[in-house]
Amino acid sequence: MTQLKQPAEIHPASEDQSASIRQAIARIEPQSLRTFTPSLAVIARSEGSYHFTPEGRQLADFTSGVLVANLGHNPTRWWRQVLEYLGVSPSALASSNRDEFFSAAPLSAYNAITPLEAAACERLLKNMRSQPGGGRMEQVMWSASGSEGVIKALRVALAQDPKRQMILATRFGFHGKKGLAGAVTGSENDPERDPRVRFISFPRQECSSLEKRRQPLDLAPYRAELEQIHRDLGDKICCLITEPYLGGGGSYHPQKEYLQLLESFCRERNIVFILDEVQANFGRTGPMYAYTHYGVEPDIVVLGKGLGNGVPVDAAVGRADLFAKLTYGESSDTWSGHPLGCAAVLATLDEFENEDVLARGLALSEVFEAGLQRLTELSAVCAIRGEGNVWGIQCAAVAGCD
Ligand SMILES: Cc1ncc(COP(=O)(O)O)c(C=O)c1O
Repeated sequence: MTQLKQPAEIHPASEDQSASIRQAIARIEPQSLRTFTPSLAVIARSEGSYHFTPEGRQLADFTSGVLVANLGHNPTRWWRQVLEYLGVSPSALASSNRDEFFSAAPLSAYNAITPLEAAACERLLKNMRSQPGGGRMEQVMWSASGSEGVIKALRVALAQDPKRQMILATRFGFHGKKGLAGAVTGSENDPERDPRVRFISFPRQECSSLEKRRQPLDLAPYRAELEQIHRDLGDKICCLITEPYLGGGGSYHPQKEYLQLLESFCRERNIVFILDEVQANFGRTGPMYAYTHYGVEPDIVVLGKGLGNGVPVDAAVGRADLFAKLTYGESSDTWSGHPLGCAAVLATLDEFENEDVLARGLALSEVFEAGLQRLTELSAVCAIRGEGNVWGIQCAAVAGCD
């Protein structure tokens, strides 16, 4: 594999603790564990919208922990609720009359069931079904990462009919790096691509102004491409997977009619329509789920990141009749449906359902949009693209502007 030249690292000279932790990590972990960032921040503590280095330097976190901490880092009430659901509230700890153990939810329930898991499934399904576009949300297939949720969703689609083993994916999407999730990420440029995957175009309007992007999209070329691919592959296509917007692929947010076209293409041909909301769920685009924002009703929605506000919990949620094609054990693993993850989902839903999180997010979105728009006055910035609370800045050096 070609080694790309990395930009220079940027580390404040005065931060000795950070420097020694970075050096230790470089010795004891392979570099492949993380994406290169010039600053490689060492984060000791986090609170609200801020991180703190071990030396106490405050960093504004414009990424919400890379689209995870939608409620902010470590909200006190949320933490209290997580611990309460788990039965490890301070009062439970204090009232324990045993010296070494106290009674709380198990921290491993592999191949068993916890009441927390049942409650999290029920609350999540109720929440998803109550939103426009959530009509097909009947069962929860937990996973321990976003890519795993995507893999599980794709395996469900492949299990429907052994004669239908082709997968359509939108080009330049990001669904993860492992296995089938990696196979539907990116484009056909990878020569080792899984032969079951075919890519279709996703609208990428370079450098256009917000007003321009809000104009209707000419669907004709996209429709023609879909029809052609269907002529080529016929009934071999089992599913189509897309993100609501290209997140990792450069912050391209399509017009709603594009996703609606994909949905109707799938419906007319009995193709499973999978929407990867790992980054979009829990208010990122404005409403609770991007399927509401884009006016579509997916067969399977993959959730992650903000779902547990920082606790690793992910899921593929969708039609029970589809999930029923996999039998005992085919989607099981040690961590899926983990009690800590389920407690985090419940506590996160509590916040979204009982507080005005979404309304505050929408108000913030207007502030961001206006502020970011001003950046385009700089010659280094040629465009901003985004919606709700997910925005990208395109730098002039990266691509030509229109
Ligand atoms: C849309 C989307 N899908 C899937 C993934 C993969 O999730 P994970 O890194 O948890 O495997 C990501 C991660 O950034 C993502 O943005």
